[in-house]
Amino acid sequence: MDPAALRAAFPVFERLAYLNAGTCGPVPQEAVRAQAQAAEAGARAGRTTAYFEQLEMLRERQRAAYAALVGARPEDIALQTSTSEGIVRVLQGLGLGPGDEILTVADEHPGLLGPLAAARERLGLVVRTATLAELPFHVGPHTRLVACSHVAWTTGEVAPAALADVGRDVPVLLDGAQGAGAVSVDTPTLGCAFYAAAGQKWLCGPVGTGFLYVAPAWRERLAAVGPTYLALADPASGLDAGPHADARAHDASALGLEALAGAAAAFATLAEVGWDAVHRRAIGLAGTLAQALQGDGRTVVPRGESTLVAWEDPTPAQTRERLAQAGVIVRDLPGGRHLRASVGAWNDEDDLQRLLAGLA
Ligand SMILES: Cc1ncc(COP(=O)(O)O)c(C=O)c1O
Repeated sequence: MDPAALRAAFPVFERLAYLNAGTCGPVPQEAVRAQAQAAEAGARAGRTTAYFEQLEMLRERQRAAYAALVGARPEDIALQTSTSEGIVRVLQGLGLGPGDEILTVADEHPGLLGPLAAARERLGLVVRTATLAELPFHVGPHTRLVACSHVAWTTGEVAPAALADVGRDVPVLLDGAQGAGAVSVDTPTLGCAFYAAAGQKWLCGPVGTGFLYVAPAWRERLAAVGPTYLALADPASGLDAGPHADARAHDASALGLEALAGAAAAFATLAEVGWDAVHRRAIGLAGTLAQALQGDGRTVVPRGESTLVAWEDPTPAQTRERLAQAGVIVRDLPGGRHLRASVGAWNDEDDLQRLLAGLA
């Protein structure tokens, strides 16, 4: 790959050492152009049949793109507006009831814990926790679902491979917000029943995009929450209109042509480089940063082969602000003790040096 050419696709790097894709990825100029073009066409020609035909074409193109990214078939992918939307659809669609247990990790992201708490309240579920590394060993006779991160947002730890064995008996829902686009995601190898992912983070698409993978074995057992208009197989059948027979039953309706055009263009920017190369470079640079921070005497939080690096800082909010003024963008984590850098294939050694210099 040509790292300089990839970097040049993102205007943010003209000025900033942007290390915040774990919140929102950098936006390629090509995605801005595609979004503007879609908006302009709709404004000038009206949002007519042609607009909706193009929308339909882009929905299917993007579904196929997401499928290829995670080693799945297009019919196993539902288009979503966010990671959390996919999580909600799984928690509400599995038919869980009083006493059913969900096993999770206590410090998962609110995008998982919020829907979990709501499902516990509404359905009378029991929620039990363990650490991410230990999760496979805590599955018990009442466990009906294991729900956890593929890559932990506060540490960069990766879910243990042993979860694939768990998945043979109990469905596993992976929160892939920090996985898809960042690290290799092969759903058959992961053995998960569901993989919920964000479009706006490591896939560099607009906020309001994402997807949910539903394993074929779980297709029949996941009821469609809704289903909304575009998730109907034959919308013209009135009260007889049922949802699609595949993962499209869980599609979000409100994905505009502009958002999809942006998502498709951003995805293509990365896919053209090659996902293996994108993942390898990002994970390698993140490892380099972790080592350099340690070399500078900082305490790096134990992490895995991922693109996130978190380290201790006595005043993270102030340090984040000071770094931002120097053009280095990272985030502080809840709890007031850590900073986190998100390192992508679009970053370079100079970004890392700017961060290290800003911390000194
Ligand atoms: C691990 C994790 N899960 C869920 C979310 C929420 O993502 P979304 O806004 O796509 O629902 C985030 C966002 O930072 C995250 O890091």
